[in-house]
Amino acid sequence: MNKIVIGILAVIIILGIGVVATSGGDDSSTQSSENTTTSSEDMSTEGNETVAENTVILDDLAFMTEELTVKKGTTVTWENRDTARHDINFTDAAMDSADSELFGQGETYEYTFDEVGTFDYSCTPHPFMKATVVVTE
Ligand code: CO
Repeated sequence: MNKIVIGILAVIIILGIGVVATSGGDDSSTQSSENTTTSSEDMSTEGNETVAENTVILDDLAFMTEELTVKKGTTVTWENRDTARHDINFTDAAMDSADSELFGQGETYEYTFDEVGTFDYSCTPHPFMKATVVVTE
């Protein structure tokens, strides 16, 4: 009888260890996949520097995001990190009121897009600087 009781206890202990080991494994794999998702969402970068959402960086005589797609009602920010002064000059004459003045290093310009469409723009002193904002519903 004693041998049978010991045998049953041994089986229970082995099963118990197995359950603990399995659940522990599930926890760690869940955590690591969550961490991977979080870090990939947070790591939005242009070059080596972090860029805020819906922001176009101006640097090296270029708009670093050539095409930015946003939802209607989104405010887009242009952030000048270049030593040169630039402006946002929309190609469509109907967008003249949205054109910016020249702004320098460390300065920003914001515009809120309330209409759906494709909005091409360039920089007046540097016409080769071209980019587009696409606004969707
Ligand atoms: Co320019």
